[in-house]
Amino acid sequence: MTSANTHIPRQLRLGTILQGAAGNMSAWRHPDALADSSINFEYVRGLAQKAEQAKLDFVFIADGLYINEKSIPHFLNRFEPLTLLSALATSTRHIGLVGTLSTSYSEPFTTARQFASLDHISGGRAGWNVVTSPLEGSAKNFTRDSHPEHALRYRIADEFLDVVKGLWDSWEDDAFPRNKESGAFFDAKKLHTLTHKGEFFSVQGPLNIGRSKQGRPIVFQAGASDDGKKLAAKHADAIFTHHASLAEAQAFYQDVKQQLEENGRSRDALHIFQGVSVIIGDDAADVERQYWQTAQLVSITDALNYLGRYFDHHDFSQHPLDAPFPDIGDIGKNSFRSTTDEIKRNAREKGQTLREVALEAATPRPVFSGTPEQVADGLQQWFDAYAADGFIISGGTPLSFTHFADRVVPILQSRGIFRRDYPGTTLRDSFDLPWPLNRFTQ
Ligand SMILES: Cc1cc2nc3c(=O)[nH]c(=O)nc-3n(C[C@H](O)[C@H](O)[C@H](O)COP(=O)(O)O)c2cc1C
Repeated sequence: MTSANTHIPRQLRLGTILQGAAGNMSAWRHPDALADSSINFEYVRGLAQKAEQAKLDFVFIADGLYINEKSIPHFLNRFEPLTLLSALATSTRHIGLVGTLSTSYSEPFTTARQFASLDHISGGRAGWNVVTSPLEGSAKNFTRDSHPEHALRYRIADEFLDVVKGLWDSWEDDAFPRNKESGAFFDAKKLHTLTHKGEFFSVQGPLNIGRSKQGRPIVFQAGASDDGKKLAAKHADAIFTHHASLAEAQAFYQDVKQQLEENGRSRDALHIFQGVSVIIGDDAADVERQYWQTAQLVSITDALNYLGRYFDHHDFSQHPLDAPFPDIGDIGKNSFRSTTDEIKRNAREKGQTLREVALEAATPRPVFSGTPEQVADGLQQWFDAYAADGFIISGGTPLSFTHFADRVVPILQSRGIFRRDYPGTTLRDSFDLPWPLNRFTQ
């Protein structure tokens, strides 16, 4: 065959977020949902296996470090990501296992060690979603007087990532000859001590675990502000974001790819994932029925609490519901900044009331909905228009992810933009990313 015949089109990457019953904050009440899905391991394992049968690149576990009685129900009682992913590693074989861990409330040594362990346990399938933690209340759970402000959190994250990556290079790939005859367990020339002394961290090293089957875990970044993009362009292999329109997603895409080049990295060195919700139905009426069956479970009180969480748990019930969205000043600036900025801008532009803003936030319309072909068309359109390198799918109803795996993935495969099998065994193989060179040998 000629090379023209064997040309493989640019490949779409797919992950799914496993979060409670999926759908919305009240979806645990849905007749098709398990009410305890956020803490039901059998259920989560079943979904991870379903995602693996569909050949998805990874499952994704989000996290938070502060709750109160107004938090989303599935945040009140849920698994710690690394513990959950370690358990999932033993009942899956190919799918990537990506979990969130905060650079604002963790130690680099422990973080490097935990993700390296997951990477070894899973045979090279670990991914770390680096977040800086938006919730100000987190400080109260970590013996801190105050939550570091947004820019400071990103400066800490930058140094944190540098330290973690340095620790992951403590041992060269072939540092452990384990020669029973000679007694040489390790090769001292291939051991590197980091001796990091920076603005926020002082870490000597070396790390007490070696490189993995994919060298080191894949680094994701979630955070869409300018500082977030900058951090991703410097350090990350993937970025997780969400945009409501094709034009916004394209602008974000171009910006991040441009910044990669400015950092001396190739445009392919980082994959951009848009988080999108989906509802799949037989026709428009079926989609609408499924949407309302889930949306009507959310009361206006639930919706106000949901909205409030983005604004540092601001109590929106004190404002009139049917008046224009209130001016609450800078509340939220130090929390989910990119999200709160967007909510405020949207409300202003569309002239929305508080009720409309709250319901839109808590019961969002799926980004892509329709028949399996229509959903596949939507994803392909964004992909072809360079609005995304891939998607993190979240179900718009408790059953939507299963519909997606069964009905949409085969269409993407038949179009040749999503593979029919895993190309290798590691997440790095699935992402087609190069082997990470050890910083001490370059
Ligand atoms: C798509 C997306 C997913 C996120 N997931 C998490 C998460 O699981 N846990 C968390 O603490 N923060 C999460 N964040 C919050 C960010 O880490 C960050 O702290 C917050 O968004 C403020 O940063 P930004 O203004 O750069 O977006 C997420 C942000 C985005 C945009």
